[in-house]
Amino acid sequence: MNRPTDPHKMTQASTPVGTHPGYMPGFGNDFETEALPGALPQGMNSPQKCNYGLYGEQLSGTAFTANPPERTWCYRIRPSVKHSHRYVKIDLPFWKSAPCVDPDVISLGQYRWDPVPHSDEGLTWLTGMRTMTTAGDVNTQVGMASHIYLVTESMVDEYFFSADSELLVVPQEGRLRFATEMGIIDLEPKEIAIIPRGLLYRVEVLEGPARGFVCENYGQKFELPGRGPIGANCMANPRDFKAPVAAFEDREVPSTVTIKWCGQFHITKIGHSPLDVVAWHGNYTPYKYDLNTYCPVGAILFDHPDPSIFTVLTAPSGQPGTANIDFVLFRERWMVMEDTFRPPWYHKNIMSELMGNIYGQYDAKPQGFIPGGMSLHNMMIPHGPDKEAFEKASNSNLGPDKLENTMSFMFETRFPQHLTGFAATEAPLQDDYIDCWSDIEKKFDGTPGKK
Ligand SMILES: [Fe+2]
Repeated sequence: MNRPTDPHKMTQASTPVGTHPGYMPGFGNDFETEALPGALPQGMNSPQKCNYGLYGEQLSGTAFTANPPERTWCYRIRPSVKHSHRYVKIDLPFWKSAPCVDPDVISLGQYRWDPVPHSDEGLTWLTGMRTMTTAGDVNTQVGMASHIYLVTESMVDEYFFSADSELLVVPQEGRLRFATEMGIIDLEPKEIAIIPRGLLYRVEVLEGPARGFVCENYGQKFELPGRGPIGANCMANPRDFKAPVAAFEDREVPSTVTIKWCGQFHITKIGHSPLDVVAWHGNYTPYKYDLNTYCPVGAILFDHPDPSIFTVLTAPSGQPGTANIDFVLFRERWMVMEDTFRPPWYHKNIMSELMGNIYGQYDAKPQGFIPGGMSLHNMMIPHGPDKEAFEKASNSNLGPDKLENTMSFMFETRFPQHLTGFAATEAPLQDDYIDCWSDIEKKFDGTPGKK
């Protein structure tokens, strides 16, 4: 297996697409990897002639002048200009981009959905994407969209990239293979993957049907959150992020490339596989992460910290401390706080919160928020525990208690989220969700000391 860059040492990868993937550990490292020996130039980026007759090409994920710049040098069978021809606009009617404000849809409220069911229709990564909410503006590269994917069929000689966005993929059911220009990522529930803006790939079904959640990030890339006084350890550790080793295809076969660009989809026809990068080096890569390696930090004496303490990745917005998107994980953990209302408290939030359940039971909502389901508590909309959760948490004996069989997440954004028509009318919206708070009683009667 290859390792992050050591300028004096380079091991060889040999993982052709279609075989078992290999990965390199580290977050944002300057990796280097080659699928054929000597394919990667050493000591320079642009030799007069590349080994094997390869073409050198840079993929820039940031402006050249960003600090630090994020880019990867690829050495490939054909340059990317050969992987596109004239474009024809196509329609993927269920994949929406912001701004997408439907005048017939009310986004103001508390919403919860059962899992979107699979249908008999064969669906790929592209046709099976169902947008639930959008926020911000894809054209100015701020905000996000949330999607559910329902995938039953592999993409065959069909490739895709998004110029609009980085995709954070959160599987809930089934296993997928992302065969990308930079190598293979296999993904299953309890893992996440990041597919960067501009990276070409094909999605295959390893075990179907596959369902999961996607956060489409229009803005600045996800990064590790600042740890502040927590220090160097716990939360998401850099070594647990895995970038793929180089892998390539040399296949001459009629193929299509679909591109998402400024919220629209276009298709182009080519005569070969574009997954032809034989070697690469750089810090702009896809990667995966095992959520089981996330080490939660919490209160160990009293009170309930803000959920931001469970941030796995954050995408900055340019306003310090105010994320375009935080990806937050609620997983198994011990609760030990004394004289404390332990579940999430009641609140209103300027940030808007979209949650998904990967498996198990969420502590603030023992009923109704089920695996594969989602909820949305939009900007400044009140929410909190239902009556059952409140009464149990207010009256139980507080010993050490482990929350088990639970893994949920939140896409939290500084921008209000707008429901799509699909989310409001076709997805299994729970019309009675708001009733989960209707039984909450007035306890106050003016008696001092009453609890
Ligand atoms: Fe909240």
